[in-house]
Amino acid sequence: MQATFRCDGSTVFVFGGTSGINLGIAEAFAEAGATVAVASRSAGKVEAAVARLTDAGKRSGHDRPASGYALDVRDAAAVGTALDAFASAAGGIDVVVSGAAGNFLASAATLSPNGFKAVVDIDLLGSFHVARAAYAHLRKPGGCLIHISAPQASIAMPMQAHVCAAKAGVDMLTRTLALEWGPVGIRVNSVSPGPIDDTEGMRRLAPDEASRDRCVRSVPMRRMGDVRDIANACLFVASDAASYVSGTVIPVDGGWAAAGANVGS
Ligand code: HXC
Ligand code: NAP
Repeated sequence: MQATFRCDGSTVFVFGGTSGINLGIAEAFAEAGATVAVASRSAGKVEAAVARLTDAGKRSGHDRPASGYALDVRDAAAVGTALDAFASAAGGIDVVVSGAAGNFLASAATLSPNGFKAVVDIDLLGSFHVARAAYAHLRKPGGCLIHISAPQASIAMPMQAHVCAAKAGVDMLTRTLALEWGPVGIRVNSVSPGPIDDTEGMRRLAPDEASRDRCVRSVPMRRMGDVRDIANACLFVASDAASYVSGTVIPVDGGWAAAGANVGS
C-alpha cells in the first residue's frame, strides 16, 4: 500500500525504530519523503534498519541517507546526544516517535521489583527522556511528538501489571505535555495499536496457535492489525490534516479498546 500522506523535506526520529511496528513507522515516513533516524540498543539492528530505511528513502525519490544511533532510552544523556546529532545533520527535527518498549507475561505476585522497574524504566521513564530532550527541537509550529502506547493503558490485563502501569503513565504524559507544550507549537498524541500480526509483542503475548486464535476472536474486526495500519495512523497524526489534534490517545485496534473489559473473553 502506498503512503497516503507525503512529508517531503521533513525530518523524523523514531526511538525503538529498528524492528516491528516502529520500524514500519520509520519506513512509512521514509517512503513518504522524510529524512529519518532510528535508535535502539542493538548496534546490529540499528545498522540493518538504516540500510533498509535508506533504500525506502531512495524509493520515495530522495537520496538523503537514514541515520542510526545505538542507545538505551534509559540513558537520558545518550538520548539527548542522538537527537542533537540528528538535528545538526538533518537541519532540525519535525517529528519524534517514542516507541521503545519491553514486555513479557508475568504475574504480579511473582514478578520481581526489578522486572517491574525494567518495563517502567524503558516505557515510561524512557518516554520522558525522549520527550524532554525533544522539546528544544520540536518547539516550533508543526512540532509533533507521538507516543506509541497500548490498550493496556486503559484496559487491565492479567500478567500485564507492569505494562498496564507503564503505558497508563505514557498516555497521561501525552495529555500533560499537550497542555504544557501546546502554547509553543508542539502537538503531543499517543497512537495505541491493538494486536499487530508478526511482531515481537504478539509473539510474547500470544506465543501459540490457541492463544493467537483467542486473541483474534476478541477483536471486533476479527483480525490482527498490520504494521502498516499503525504507520498510516502516525503519518496522519504528523500531517497538516491533524494540525488541531493534540492531547489524544488514538486507538488503531480493530475496535479492541471499544470492547473494554470484554477483551479476551
Ligand atoms: C519475569 C522477567 C522476565 C520474564 C525479564 N524479567 N524477563 N521477569 N518474566 N519473562 C526480569 C528479570 O528477571 C530482571 O529482574 C528484570 O526483568 C530485568 O531483566 P533484564 O533481562 O536485565 O532486562 P533488560 O536487559 O533491560 O531487558 C528488558 C526486557 C526484555 C523488557 C526484560 O524483555 C527486552 O529487552 N524486551 C524488548 C523487546 C520487547 O519486549 N518487545 C515487545 C514490545 S511489545 P531480576 O529481579 O531478575 O533482576 C509491548 C506491548 C505489546 O510492549 C502489547 C500487545 C497488545
Ligand atoms: P519490538 O519489535 O520488540 O520493538 C521494540 C523496539 O524498541 C525495538 O526496536 C527494540 O530494539 C527497542 N528497545 C527496546 N528496549 C529499548 C531500550 N531500553 N532502549 C532503546 N530501544 C529499546 O516490538 P513491537 O511489538 O513491534 O512493539 C513496538 C511498540 O508497539 C512498543 O511501544 C509496544 O509497546 C507497542 N505495541 C505493540 C503491540 C503489538 O501488537 N506488537 C500492541 C500494542 C502496542 P533493541 O532490542 O535493539 O533495543
